[in-house]
Parts: sequence; structure tokens; C-alpha cells
Amino acid sequence: MASLMPSSTSMALLHNVPKFVHLFVAAFVFLTVIRLYLFPLLTSSAFSWRPSAPAPPPLPPPPAPGAVVMAGKEYSSKCDISKGKWVPNPNAPYYTNDTCWAIHEHHNCLKYGRPDDGFMRWRWRPDGCDLPVFNPAQFLELVRHKSLAFVGDSVGRNHMQSLLCLLLRATYAVDASPVQDENFRRYRFPSHNFTVASFWSPFLVRAQEADDDDPSGLLNLYLDEPDTSWSREIAQFDYVIISAGQPFLRPTMFYENRRLVGCHYCRSPNVTDLTKYYGYRMAFHTALRVFTDDLRGFGGTVFLRTYSPTHFEGGEWDRGGDCMRLRPFRRDEARLDEVAFQMYMTQMEEFRAAEREGRKKSVKLRLLDTTEAMLLRGDGHPGRYGHVAGANVRMYNDCVHWCLPGPIDTWNDFLLHTMKNEGRRLATRRRPGNERKPS
Ligand SMILES: *[C@@H]1O[C@H](CO)[C@@H](O)[C@H](O)[C@H]1NC(C)=O
Ligand SMILES: *[C@@H]1O[C@H](CO)[C@@H](O)[C@H](O)[C@H]1NC(C)=O
Ligand SMILES: *[C@@H]1O[C@H](CO)[C@@H](O)[C@H](O)[C@H]1NC(C)=O
Repeated sequence: MASLMPSSTSMALLHNVPKFVHLFVAAFVFLTVIRLYLFPLLTSSAFSWRPSAPAPPPLPPPPAPGAVVMAGKEYSSKCDISKGKWVPNPNAPYYTNDTCWAIHEHHNCLKYGRPDDGFMRWRWRPDGCDLPVFNPAQFLELVRHKSLAFVGDSVGRNHMQSLLCLLLRATYAVDASPVQDENFRRYRFPSHNFTVASFWSPFLVRAQEADDDDPSGLLNLYLDEPDTSWSREIAQFDYVIISAGQPFLRPTMFYENRRLVGCHYCRSPNVTDLTKYYGYRMAFHTALRVFTDDLRGFGGTVFLRTYSPTHFEGGEWDRGGDCMRLRPFRRDEARLDEVAFQMYMTQMEEFRAAEREGRKKSVKLRLLDTTEAMLLRGDGHPGRYGHVAGANVRMYNDCVHWCLPGPIDTWNDFLLHTMKNEGRRLATRRRPGNERKPS
């Protein structure tokens, strides 16, 4: 197995952190954004794709039958929507930067002069079946009188904004945020009494800067304590989409039972380096146990949206690396790098374990396995079009988040598909004479 430690290039970069932080202060509005943009990229030394002539398949073979119940598998056995290819879609995009107000500045690629628009004109076709393009009216019917929460980092927020844009085609929304905090928004769709909320929690568990004045320093993660900014309120939601990613690449100290148990890249002789995968695993463990153990009788559905790969080409994120592809990769043209692969596998293992637990307690845990689809979309990031050209501040190319409209809209195709299968599952269970034996 390849080394899990940061490469020597990454180490060299870490020494330069404070300088970069100063450059970033002028560029980003929120300090939290700075931390989350910077560190993920900093320690990710490999590109998230590699051109390869004969490459091994992007992801390992699917688990043994029964190990993971993909929503939908039960009903259309040949359709695993996570595997497939991108096909041209002349009908896209379904909204623009002029029709949707919810697009974050940094993802507004059209506004900032991205000259090509091909990246908006593809849809995901799973092997062996069709994944319908998101239908806002159908979605709104399903979620009438319900609520949906996004818990995660800026990529999760990117997803929420995509969903808002797609729904705004059919109806309107009002800002119903309880507090004036960009990180905790609520939007209500009065026509359907549906609410979407965002909870900013990049680490899912309690996190604290070791030194508040030095955002480039270490972060303390309390791996067995869910972040109460979401966990305290989450019981009231019918659907929860939880995700986590690049922030875990940042150097961190790990605490359990309030005692230091190890770290990721703290370079301290007395502290065991447990690797970033340990922190990632434990954070998902703790977050998913909120639903299976802490909240008695949680009646909603929890979706885990899988790791979103990055696509820096031609250099590190801060060394001119960019993502200027004009079309998706074919599936034999890209593969996950070591870090993305390990992050993906780690979260899948935690998901499966939580799912087994959830099944015993009738808590619904489902997967939005978008990793492979997004691996192929090196053309879908803002890159240099996430800000004004020639802005007077130094900004790096963003090959982490996704343009809106863009390939991330597909995550809502996955979401609606999975919700519809949920309904079908219930209907099958209720029909007399169609009772399933408990497995
Ligand atoms: C949308 O993008 C176009 C360029 O395609 C730009 O001229 C316009 O100002 C943008 N509108 C908004 C509201 O961002
Ligand atoms: C709106 O939905 C909530 C549940 O999310 C429900 O309690 C409430 O009664 C609904 N309001 C109306 C006017 O139907
Ligand atoms: C490491 O542990 C030793 C013995 O417990 C202690 O004397 C030393 O100060 C520690 N070093 C650091 C850097 O914490």
C-alpha cells in the first residue's frame, strides 16, 4: 500500500502556511472558509485523477450482496446508480445564474466569465437503467409538510444551493433562518410547507482551534462528541444529508473521552499519528450513532453523500494547479488517487456498520454514492472562474467545489431516485400478502 503520510512536497508547503493565510484573508469573506479552502488542498499532494491508459477500475468491486442495501437495489436489481457514464444532455441546464439567486459567488462560473458551457450539458446514465433528471414538482410532492437538513462543509452547502436552484424552477422560497449566520440557513417553500436547512459542521464532531489566533495551527477534534450545533436540533428533520471531506486532511489532534489519543500530522514525538483516516472514520461513527443510538426512535431518513473528489492538474492547489477540462472523462480515463480512495472506503465501512445497527432499530440510513460519477467531472469545477478575473487579491483555482449549474445538480437526481425507492419500499411492505421475512 502506498504511504499514507503526506509527501515531502506537502511538508514543504506546510512551512509556508502563515504566508498563505495572510494572502487569503483579503480574498475570503469568512474565516471558516479560509480554513476549509486552504487546508484540504494543502495536504492533498496527489491529483484526484490520473490519466491512465489501461487503468484498474475506478472503484473496487461492489460488496458482497446484502452487505450494503442501496436504496433501489431491491426493486430493480440491475440498477446500481453509482456506476455509469456521462451522456450528452442537450436540454440542460435547467436554471441559470440569472434565474437562481441561491448560487454562491464562488460557484457562479458563468458570471465570472467561464467561456465554455459544455460542462452543464451532461447527465449521468447508470449502467443498466436510466436515472431521470430531477423533477422539482415530483420532489416537492414527496416532501410536502417535511423538512430536509444538510450537515457538513462547503461542498455540502454547494449541494444545498443546487437543490434550491432546481426547486426554484417550480415555486418560490422565503428565508426563514433563525439566526443571521451564513452557516445556518433555513429556506421555506410555502407552497409545499417544505423547509431546507443547512448546518455548518465540517467535522461533524466537536472541533476547536487549538489557537484561535492562528488558523494555520492545529485543530482539536473531539471524536466521540457530536457537534451539538447540528445534533441538538436534528431530531426535528425528516431527511438529513450528511457529508464530510477535505477538511479532514488538515493537521488535527484527536481526543476521546476528553483525553488526547493521537493526531493526524501533528509532528509531535509524543503523540501517535493515527492518520487522517482515523479521524474521518471516528467522525462518521459518532455522527451516524446520533441517529441509531442517541435519538430514540428517530423517524426520518439519513443520507450519507460520499466523498467528493478534487481535480487539480498541472500543479498543487497553490502552485498554479487548475482544472480546465472541457468535457468529462470516460470511465477508463480517471481513477481515484490514494487519499480519495481511502477516504471513500473508510466512510463506506462506517456507513455499513451504522446501517446494520440502524436496521435493528428501524432507523433508515441510505447512501448517495456520487463519488465515481464526480471523479469523471474534472470539467465541472470553478477553477479560475470562481471570482472576478484579475481581482486585486490573490485567489487560487477552485478544483474542489462545483459550478452551478453543473454536475453537482446530479446529486439531486440521486436524492430523488433514492427517496422514490423509499416510498416504493414502504408501499411493498404495506401491500397484503407481500410481507417480507425480516432479514
Ligand atoms: C450571469 O452571467 C452572465 C454571463 O453569462 C453575466 O453577464 C450576468 O451578469 C450574470 N448574472 C448574475 C445575476 O450573476
Ligand atoms: C407544516 O409542516 C409541519 C411539519 O414539518 C407541520 O407540523 C405543520 O402542521 C405544517 N403546516 C401546515 C400549515 O400544514
Ligand atoms: C514527551 O514526553 C516526555 C516524557 O513523558 C516529556 O518529558 C516531554 O516533555 C514530552 N515532550 C513533548 C514535546 O511534549
